[in-house]
Amino acid sequence: MSGSLDFSRIAHWIIAGAVFAALVSGFAMTRSDAFSLTLLQAHIAFGAVAGLFSLIRVLSWVARGAPARIYPVSSRIQALVSSAVHAALRLVPLALLASGVGMIALSGSFPEIAAGTFSGLAVFETLPPRNLHHAAASLLLGLLGLHIAAALWHWRSRIRSVTS
Ligand code: HEM
Ligand code: HEM
Repeated sequence: MSGSLDFSRIAHWIIAGAVFAALVSGFAMTRSDAFSLTLLQAHIAFGAVAGLFSLIRVLSWVARGAPARIYPVSSRIQALVSSAVHAALRLVPLALLASGVGMIALSGSFPEIAAGTFSGLAVFETLPPRNLHHAAASLLLGLLGLHIAAALWHWRSRIRSVTS
């Protein structure tokens, strides 16, 4: 993103870094054979930062509307797709925050996770928020792919229009 160094721009990059770290630590945690408590603790910290900053961004979106677009849109369909993807990118981390907190609360595992005595992901297996958490993480990954592809496309066309 370019533009002035305002809150929405700083929040965007804090959320981007924390979402990236939460996705990597989340998939690493569920896909490795040995359980790593450090990975779960790091995941909860990254996920909480991503979720809480997303919550602030959504509250500001509701109160003041969406931030001005950085790149101009050239058609109604482009405006519609871009607004829909941005809205989903603002909201999906909230579903991850709610379902993540839901898993920890329903399992009552927070004291053990904090004390370093928690021993595995099995307690989450039958909890309803787990499926929502997994589905929301995959959706976010897909949306991020579209979002980063669109950013690269805009940067490429900007460089081409400057150099040609
Ligand atoms: C490498 C990662 C990323 C890049 C290169 C990137 C790039 C950009 C760019 C260039 C814009 C401005 C689009 C415009 O207004 O015309 C933008 C806006 C936006 N991005 Fe990203 N982004 C990244 C990661 C993320 C992540 C992880 C999220 C959320 C989960 C996100 C959510 C948003 C949202 C909601 C907007 C609309 C403006 C706002 O509300 O802040 N982005 N991004
Ligand atoms: C934007 C924020 C977050 C992202 C992107 C995220 C992403 C992920 C991903 C990708 C997985 C692995 C899913 C899979 O294997 O299909 C995962 C699992 C998990 N996440 Fe998150 N997460 C976030 C926030 C949180 C928060 C705030 C908490 C807790 C307070 C949390 C707790 C967990 C737990 C306990 C698991 C393991 C579930 C299982 O047993 O399969 N996450 N997360």
